[in-house]
Amino acid sequence: MEHTINHMGKEILFSRDVIGQRVNILAARISEDYQERDLILIGVLKGAFVFMADLIRSMTIPCRIDFVRLASYGSGSTSQGEITLTKDIEMPIEGQDILIVEDIVDTGLTLSYFVESLKRRNPRSIKVCVFLDKRKRRKTVFEADYVGFTIDDGFVVGYGLDFDEQARFLPDVYLIKA
Ligand code: PRP
Repeated sequence: MEHTINHMGKEILFSRDVIGQRVNILAARISEDYQERDLILIGVLKGAFVFMADLIRSMTIPCRIDFVRLASYGSGSTSQGEITLTKDIEMPIEGQDILIVEDIVDTGLTLSYFVESLKRRNPRSIKVCVFLDKRKRRKTVFEADYVGFTIDDGFVVGYGLDFDEQARFLPDVYLIKA
């Protein structure tokens, strides 16, 4: 598989510098919006870990963090709506301000499911921050509260985003060319 991705055409879509500037803007907005609040960021593994690490270090307010792992079942590379938690958060969230952090929203099914499932635990508030909003394949109405970048469609890797578990480590985001 290493062989495969190395031989695919790819071009930088968002450079590390552009990403850094955008993350700083998001972090400033979040810090402003959650002043004097007790914020918990919940990252969705695996893809979100790079974005979340940069985001919290650029924020100017304290926060706590936790993680979930969500699995979707279905054919192909898009989720089909059957989503389960395979690793849950480890801290109670009732009455807390929650910000979910994701690398990408595509069909919207994963985050729709997760937001609804967290609401049942009665947090004080719940919002979503996504690094990349990919809009063409939406299967449900879903709008994130904070968005790093928006694209219509395309296969992207790097900055946490993978192709068959490869390329998450790349500091820039690449568009794979067919
Ligand atoms: C990606 C992403 C979201 C989901 C978005 O996860 O991190 O969880 O797909 O897709 P959707 O909007 O169509 O539901 P993936 O299954 O690739 O796992 P990963 O984070 O481990 O890469």
